[in-house]
Amino acid sequence: MDTAHSLIDIQFADKKSGKGRTCVLPVFEDNELSPSARAVDKDGNKFISVYIKDQSVFKGKKGQTFLITGGKDADYRSYVLIGMGKKDELTPYDIECAGGHVWKFLSSMAENDITLDLGDWGKAKAKLDDDVVGPAFATGLQLAAYSYTHYKSQKEEKKNDNKKKSLTILLAKAKSAEKTYKEMEHATRGTFFARDLVNTPPNDLYPDAYAKRIQKQLKPLGVKVIILDEKKMEKLKMGAALAVGQGSENPSRFVIMEWDGRKGRKSKADKPLGFVGKGVTFDTGGISLKPGAGMDEMKLDMGGSAAVVGLMETLARRKANVYAVGVVGLVENMPDGKSYRPGDIITSMSGKTIEVLNTDAEGRLVLADALTYIQKEYDPEFIIDLATLTGAMMVALGHEYCGSFVNNDHLWEKMEKAAKTSAEKLWRMPLDDVWKKDMESSIADLKNMGSGRYAGACTAAGFLEHFIDEGRVWSHMDIAGTAWTKAPTNPIISKGGTGFGVRVLNDMIQQNYG
Ligand code: BES
Ligand code: MG
Ligand code: ZN
Repeated sequence: MDTAHSLIDIQFADKKSGKGRTCVLPVFEDNELSPSARAVDKDGNKFISVYIKDQSVFKGKKGQTFLITGGKDADYRSYVLIGMGKKDELTPYDIECAGGHVWKFLSSMAENDITLDLGDWGKAKAKLDDDVVGPAFATGLQLAAYSYTHYKSQKEEKKNDNKKKSLTILLAKAKSAEKTYKEMEHATRGTFFARDLVNTPPNDLYPDAYAKRIQKQLKPLGVKVIILDEKKMEKLKMGAALAVGQGSENPSRFVIMEWDGRKGRKSKADKPLGFVGKGVTFDTGGISLKPGAGMDEMKLDMGGSAAVVGLMETLARRKANVYAVGVVGLVENMPDGKSYRPGDIITSMSGKTIEVLNTDAEGRLVLADALTYIQKEYDPEFIIDLATLTGAMMVALGHEYCGSFVNNDHLWEKMEKAAKTSAEKLWRMPLDDVWKKDMESSIADLKNMGSGRYAGACTAAGFLEHFIDEGRVWSHMDIAGTAWTKAPTNPIISKGGTGFGVRVLNDMIQQNYG
């Protein structure tokens, strides 16, 4: 079941002009031509200026496109102007989106051979440099070209042959731009693997199949992969995670991934960086059954684990000089004669007992044991967990922002800095003792649901806090809204699984640890 996504072949060159089929030229707001567009315009008797003067729709706004057919003597068959918006406000994220728009426009014309002429971007006096702009364009285009066609039976639809597509980027500083781009491509691959995992249907992605797929993908890259079966989980007394999976015909698994890229090199942290992911391969709600409408989407409930796996892949591919550990708890939440029930009291690996009030609040039970395991076994520098944990998070921040609960300001600063320039946006959420206290049960140590209707994402975080050792630096990212979308709001994410978390966390690690 290989869904390895082929990537578009992207070249960088600094030659002043090329020849080919389609040439893309950036244009800023109010139709201010970029240096490359100006040069082409000048060479071609001002044909660009003449065309755009003749109309009032294309104004160089973000995402706008304008097609001009090349004349008889032109170097290219067609020219596509891509609107960039205001020159002084451009961020790398805007450039990625522009790359994505280029791809969406040209693929609708079935155009596969693209030259993007950025020329000497530095002369545009935009704040961003050539070696930032080129790679960001290329990355956005690559991300936009993702599609999940594995289950199409017709060859034509199935064929997602990006290998046949090519992009040449002409710009100054081509060499250093290419180097940066190649670095970014690792995170693109990690993101695509995370998207593939989320998009894979739950009949094919159940815990054991998932564990094997992780092993198959990561082992060749030098990641140590340890799979715990139910017997081992029982031995470790993972009573909370096991309870969630006990109603399923598909046995539960834990997968531990270790990447050690230090190899004798000095690194910025000696303890491992810890990542934990919720991997509920399908969430019916269990005995507290979810309504039928839209239940199919609950294959997304392993999105947190997919992000952790994609991140580990990225670190290994770019041979990051860090020691990182990922732990994912893989279970299927099903209603059955053997299911756990509302009212059950279960004992977690930490020894804390939990009164189950709702079997649909299962993610926190899986995370509880994963958090205990990673702290006991690895004593990490920090832990970041990712989980599609609560519908309440989606109500609060929608698909645009991931609510991040963080018990340490320094960790939040690092996360916020990475998110500021990234397509993956984070918003800090509050931790409060009131919510932590609210998760205490009258007959067991804890209960798995808060007392009231409100602040559901915060009470869930309050529950997790009970499993974090005193003084441990920790963040919980609730990606319920961001892991999945039916209506993408930018061209670089695709319908279905988004792979959210891989890129922002990879940036955070790169900026601070290596
Ligand atoms: N997997 C869901 C959360 C979810 C909902 C993710 C919608 C993505 C989209 C989670 O297991 C769940 O069911 N949470 C409950 C918790 C409640 C019972 C305390 C919820 O949010 O309703
Ligand atoms: Mg649930
Ligand atoms: Zn769930």
